[in-house]
Amino acid sequence: MDLVIRPGAHAPSGVLEPPPDKSISHRALLGALLARGTTIVEGLSRALDVTATLEAIRAFGAVVSERANGTLEIDGPGIEGLVEPEGVIDVGNSGTLARLGLGVATLVPGLVVIDGDASVRRRPMARVIEPLRSLGAVIDARGGARWLPAAVRGARLAGGTIELRVASAQVKSALLLAGLGAASAVSVVEPVATRPHTEELLGLLGLEVDEEELADGRHRVSVVPGTPRPVERIVVARDPSAAAFFVVAAAATPGARLEVRGAYLGPTRTGYLDVLRRMGAEIEVLGRDTVIVRGAALGATTIVADEVPSLIDEVPVLAVAFAAARGTSRIEGAAELRVKESDRIETTARMLEAFGATVETSHDGFVVEGPTSPSGPVLVDSVRDHRIAMSAAVWAATQGIGARIRDAEWVATSYPGFVDDFVRLCEAVVRTED
Ligand code: S3P
Repeated sequence: MDLVIRPGAHAPSGVLEPPPDKSISHRALLGALLARGTTIVEGLSRALDVTATLEAIRAFGAVVSERANGTLEIDGPGIEGLVEPEGVIDVGNSGTLARLGLGVATLVPGLVVIDGDASVRRRPMARVIEPLRSLGAVIDARGGARWLPAAVRGARLAGGTIELRVASAQVKSALLLAGLGAASAVSVVEPVATRPHTEELLGLLGLEVDEEELADGRHRVSVVPGTPRPVERIVVARDPSAAAFFVVAAAATPGARLEVRGAYLGPTRTGYLDVLRRMGAEIEVLGRDTVIVRGAALGATTIVADEVPSLIDEVPVLAVAFAAARGTSRIEGAAELRVKESDRIETTARMLEAFGATVETSHDGFVVEGPTSPSGPVLVDSVRDHRIAMSAAVWAATQGIGARIRDAEWVATSYPGFVDDFVRLCEAVVRTED
């Protein structure tokens, strides 16, 4: 489906309540699975990635019922009661479910086969499979244990310390979840602290989680094996990564004002706000979860390796801010972008070029010469990457130009209500075409 945006929209303004956070939603469901008893999950994301996790926990033995008000009641079998799924666990487009699912699968007695769509089948799995194997997991996968599909045979793991070369919350989470059934504590050392949602969940489930900042700047997280106890209620915070499309577009437009309510604002998720501030936007945080953005004529900046984990999913839309800013902006140390839903170094560059921007890519980032003054209409191929599609849509709106975005239905991967919010906040007139 193509999304066709008519000329005449404007930068987002008004109030945005972003959709529920995708990362936290995956964890809430896995927590409800691993704790024996009933958990109420409030405000779960309806993103397709999360729906895949909902199906996965059912296959592992959870019984899920939806209440009239949209909250879910989940009866988890607990670690001891996990069942061998009858069929393949289909993660769809979700790298998070693929990786966390490999960790959970080690706890399941029997065989678990995990597969996903064409994009997930291209994403690296050795980074999870190798460390799990080093703790005693029995896993095989396509291409010499590098890609999905993968097959896992449940086994009791040994404890130990794993030192990760790439900063990846997904890999860390897979190891911590698998560690719940290990013979002794599992510790993960990550080069830079990544999003802590799994640690937060395990703490909520009454497990002992320790964290330590090492002398060399790395970050160690350890979990002591144990039985999660059910939490009565998990309330999912709203998604700062979904908000980012509108926040960046407002920040890059002088005179625009946007208020975001209810978002998770932990430091590992809000690196993009710091970047926008140093580019000249006015960003005010009120209380725990409200952000007020006032747009400005932005100046150029450089994003360095250590910041990347805190804004990894926001790079396509930050690239729009780069293109709007005066001067040379760059991002470096971001090779991880090459193994996301698409190769986001190349696909972000192609998206910017569709708007007439000057971009040069390197192995681990790109450089953008701004400012760009796009004229419409533009044609953007989303390459079935939700974040490319949404970045292009908000940029077209801020410029008031027409645009056609190919395969825009992929926004539902993370943000099913995107087009509605876009139409409301940007006063956009849109139509869809098959
Ligand atoms: C996620 C972690 C990040 C992020 C992804 C969600 C998570 O991936 O890009 O969208 O929920 O743990 P990596 O940790 O692999 O970088």
